[in-house]
Amino acid sequence: MTKSKKDTRQTQRFCGLSQLSTMPVTSSDEDPLGIIEDATIIVENETVRWVGPGAEEPQQYADIPTVDLGGRVALPGLVDCHTHVVYGGDRLEDFGRRTRGMTYEEILAAGGGIHTTVNHTRALDEQEMADAARPRLQRMLAKGITTVEIKSGYGLSHTHELRMLRSIQRLKSQVPQRLVSTFLGAHVVPKEVSDPAEYVDTIITKMLPDIQAEKLADFVDVFCESGAFDVDSCRRILESARDMGFGLKLHAEQLGWTGGTHLGAELKATSVDHVDHASDEDLAALAAAGTVAVLLPSATLYLGGQSFPRAERFRKAGVSMALATDCNPGSSPTEDLGLVASLGCAVLGMTPEEALRGITVEAARALNLVGEVGSLVPGARADFIVLDEDVRDVREIPYRMGCDRISQIFVAGAPVH
Ligand code: NIG
Ligand code: FE
Repeated sequence: MTKSKKDTRQTQRFCGLSQLSTMPVTSSDEDPLGIIEDATIIVENETVRWVGPGAEEPQQYADIPTVDLGGRVALPGLVDCHTHVVYGGDRLEDFGRRTRGMTYEEILAAGGGIHTTVNHTRALDEQEMADAARPRLQRMLAKGITTVEIKSGYGLSHTHELRMLRSIQRLKSQVPQRLVSTFLGAHVVPKEVSDPAEYVDTIITKMLPDIQAEKLADFVDVFCESGAFDVDSCRRILESARDMGFGLKLHAEQLGWTGGTHLGAELKATSVDHVDHASDEDLAALAAAGTVAVLLPSATLYLGGQSFPRAERFRKAGVSMALATDCNPGSSPTEDLGLVASLGCAVLGMTPEEALRGITVEAARALNLVGEVGSLVPGARADFIVLDEDVRDVREIPYRMGCDRISQIFVAGAPVH
């Protein structure tokens, strides 16, 4: 086969899009969604080659195969930048306890909560961990999520944390989505360890070097919270991780103020997540550091809605806002990023445009993947979702709460659903 023939076969035109949101890497006030009417996407080797109004398509693509999408609305595949989808068991008992008045913190302090999930997860072998997560990822795919970050953090020992991370590696060849792997060994101090400092030492001297050697994680995350890890321990872990070349993330200011957000900004973390109790000074520090705030309104709501991170403060401070499901068995058992976008608008006060960027390009920014996923720009992976025939505008995703209207999903230019 000659080279030119091969190239022709791998190039494809997707046309007939009444409205395409490209989600540009740099937002503008006039057109934050990068909307193109009567749009065409040219895909070559799984990647977006050209995108624009069909009438302006360059001549060179005249003879390539065409898929006509019949006048529908499309946008990039969604990016869920904060999940804990690898876990065993459930937390149905905790859920009942919370409805009867016990708090998340009280349940955790009593040895339930995350500890319950650790017990269930440790009982699984590597393939069983992957088997537990796969149906969750498949349902997420059906909801248009084509990139997923997954954290460890229910192993809490060298053996079990590495097993969790290896199960994520295994999942990479078992699902169509792009997966990003995060080590969250500092989730809570495991019950069998009496000295937290000793556990922090194990993370730094044993777990991180082995994770680095096996290339098992892109990011290192910590749960900076009273009842989990204090700022000094988080600093020790994150500074070591940074020196080893990992990207940095924090769960901070979720249940109360600890100073974790400020630490994240100081260390130029890629993202600080939750930030429900972050101060205005914290937000100014995030903006100055270029650190993304990952807002998780379903977790705040599910735990009783004490303190929502209102979008106005982040907007005013100039902080990039991403949204994620935080999918986990305890604080946010949802797989629905469209619903989270609705909560972003209805509960946090984001605009529909901010919420849509929050589940695409800004979520990609929270994973250091801007221009690779979450936007339909030349060079990005051709992940896109096509909405139902009767949807006329992309803003219907946050508007129609919990009713996704997705008819087709393409990953790397190929239909997957
Ligand atoms: O993001 N806050 C810590 N971690 C998770 C909850 C994990 C769990 O409860 O199992 C969160 O909310
Ligand atoms: Fe989380």
